[in-house]
Amino acid sequence: MKNLIGIDKVKAEQLIIKLNDLLANYQLFYQNLRGLHWNIKGKEFFELHLKFEELYDDAVIKVDEIAERILTLEGEPLHTFSDYLKTTEIKEERNITNGAQGVEIIVNNFTTLIKKERVILSLASNADDEGTVSLMSDYIAQTEKTLWMLNSYLKSYQI
Ligand SMILES: [Fe+2]
Repeated sequence: MKNLIGIDKVKAEQLIIKLNDLLANYQLFYQNLRGLHWNIKGKEFFELHLKFEELYDDAVIKVDEIAERILTLEGEPLHTFSDYLKTTEIKEERNITNGAQGVEIIVNNFTTLIKKERVILSLASNADDEGTVSLMSDYIAQTEKTLWMLNSYLKSYQI
């Protein structure tokens, strides 16, 4: 049985579950970025305050794209924080004021997201779901580049 866009319904169901998991994790990631944007202190305030804003602006676009992909696959996107908290692997961060610690959290959150995106890419490919493949493929390439930059930043903190 195929859904309205011609994807196998059982495979689409599996993708919807994984995409909802990614959505929940992205929402926690988004809120972590907002907290960092607000709470960061110190000499690098201006630089990091802006960087976190750039990252959450990007995250909020991805949140919407993931939710709308779920709808396109005929699923229901999770849309309450109670559901996100039940689903997410990314944890809430609280009162982080140190820049390097903040960037390290973001690196870890991105690492969790990219792992999930690679699993979805492989499932989507197996379902001949090119739309999801291409979305995940873009996210993975962008996140890899961001991880390179963030890890380069963190090098200044290693002796
Ligand atoms: Fe702001």
